[in-house]
Amino acid sequence: MTRGTFIAVSGGEGSGKTSVLEALQARHPSFVMTREPGATPVGSAIRGVLLDHADLDPKPLTELFLFFADRAEHLEVVVEPSLAKGRTVVSDRYWMDTYAYQWHAAMGMKDDRAFRSLVEHAGFRDPDLWIWLDVDPKVGLTRRRGTGLFNRLDRKAVSFHRKVREGYGRLYRTAKFPKVRVDANQPFDSVVDAVERGIMKWCKKA
Ligand code: TYD
Repeated sequence: MTRGTFIAVSGGEGSGKTSVLEALQARHPSFVMTREPGATPVGSAIRGVLLDHADLDPKPLTELFLFFADRAEHLEVVVEPSLAKGRTVVSDRYWMDTYAYQWHAAMGMKDDRAFRSLVEHAGFRDPDLWIWLDVDPKVGLTRRRGTGLFNRLDRKAVSFHRKVREGYGRLYRTAKFPKVRVDANQPFDSVVDAVERGIMKWCKKA
């Protein structure tokens, strides 16, 4: 059987990613929608440590390895078996998010080759397509605060979220795999259409 397609979707807080992916699933019910962190039982426990305890404040390197641990489990338990069945898998976040949040924004690391090397040694494949929902952090945080739902990382200052966006931009410029940047400041329906167009265009080329 032909291997399926792996699409990773990233974006800063309030980019509308989760709602956009729900709309995409309604249009393409055959897609396997999954997310990081927390798509597996082990991942769900890791997610609790990472995001749900306001009283825990893991160091950035600790966070990085916890996100990597969640991802190792996610790839082996959810992503690879679905790809082996020929399915299209869409992951809400992937290693690009660890690059933007932990490596670039929290740790201020400049050595991108060292990060790539960590990813390669962990055995994390590149996605077939990476979609970056690029939102102005001020717009995104205002949207997020409107929902009243925050995790530990949402609560960080706007300066942190600006660095996260800078990290995505840096990765986007240098990434060698297929990628699409979608302006997520647009109205919701336009964002969903742009994401779908990006996927369809890539499918035609592949
Ligand atoms: P979540 O509640 O799943 O929602 P959303 O993706 O819509 O923000 O939040 C996941 C949080 O984890 C989010 O604040 C981004 C953060 N994160 C990282 O910092 N590094 C990572 O590698 C991943 C996958 C997520």
